[in-house]
Amino acid sequence: VTEHAPPIIIPNTSIRPGPWEATLRALVGERGWRRVAVVCGSTFAASTGFADAIRATLTDAEILVWSGGTPHAPVAATEEAAAVFRPFSPDVIVSAGGGSSHDLAKGVAVLLAYGGNLLDYCLSFVPPDDLRPRPLPGPKVPIVTIPTTLSGSEANGAAGYAESGGKRVLADVSLTPAAVLVDGEYAARTPHDLYLGSLMNALNHCVEGLASRRSSLFTVALFRSGLQELASCADALNARPEAKLYERAGVASALVGLGLPGSWLGLAHAIGHVIGASFGAPHGWCHAVIAPAVVRFNAAEPAAAVAHAVAADAVGVTASSDALAAWLGSRAASWGLPTTLSALGVQPEAIPAIAERAWRDHDSYYNPRRVRNAEEIANLLLAVA
Ligand SMILES: [Fe+2]
Repeated sequence: VTEHAPPIIIPNTSIRPGPWEATLRALVGERGWRRVAVVCGSTFAASTGFADAIRATLTDAEILVWSGGTPHAPVAATEEAAAVFRPFSPDVIVSAGGGSSHDLAKGVAVLLAYGGNLLDYCLSFVPPDDLRPRPLPGPKVPIVTIPTTLSGSEANGAAGYAESGGKRVLADVSLTPAAVLVDGEYAARTPHDLYLGSLMNALNHCVEGLASRRSSLFTVALFRSGLQELASCADALNARPEAKLYERAGVASALVGLGLPGSWLGLAHAIGHVIGASFGAPHGWCHAVIAPAVVRFNAAEPAAAVAHAVAADAVGVTASSDALAAWLGSRAASWGLPTTLSALGVQPEAIPAIAERAWRDHDSYYNPRRVRNAEEIANLLLAVA
């Protein structure tokens, strides 16, 4: 029997740097979209006045805004948004803000296409090996994203939803946003600690994506060049720089995001999903704590050590797992991000339950070092308690 590599699916999208208002106006005009559904978070809507801004931008369109989004895109909120938009029958969904808004938009597109419950469309995973993807064929309402963080979700057809203390995910190439509007000036207004956390997240997308059991020539190319670009912006971004750097980081994050449904991620994401959904910690801050520890855990696997060397070389340090872990840890510390679980509000007694749930997260399946049981994850977490 010949074993073939998995197919490489290259999504059809565009990444458009510049002021979002002019780009969106032109795009809506080109495509002839008349009814525009807008999805964003409540904090984002209140702090930016986005609803008024998009109405002032698209004066010829009919606009319906749902601004009830909260971090980690809870399943119930996503279903509520879909119910609001169903009678409106939008031509396009515009999502603005952090990754949860873009995740929510994809869930809305799925529910508008198929009806039913969101969890019916999420993939299932039973450790160690029973991973069941859920293809979602057929047309969907197109999505345009205006990202203000570096979530990766802005550019791909994958999305996660908080449910029962973990995250459930759906993914299909048909959910890839039609366009990503990368506006550096707009992203520069994001609260600085959240933005730096999302930068740590984007860096760790590259690290985990390179080391994933499913990486391919396509994803390695994206992650390696994306990591080099993000690393070259990273410390300057900490110093509150000009908008151009936010634009460069935004383009790099989107390119990396494109590759994620091809490779998926690894153990840091499995753990981060649980800590985010159970404790409300920002996704990026979880990576500040966990990413170095997971690199060290995976270093024992030869294929992971090779991927770590590639990543370390891309960020300009000695090509080794140790140097990569140290570089990630020193970025988190020098940017003032949390570096322990207790700083995230997670006490040691919670570790066994987090480890058990993370073991059942789909991203532990893609981790390069096979995770044999929840106890291995608990031991890793105790080291960063
Ligand atoms: Fe992530």
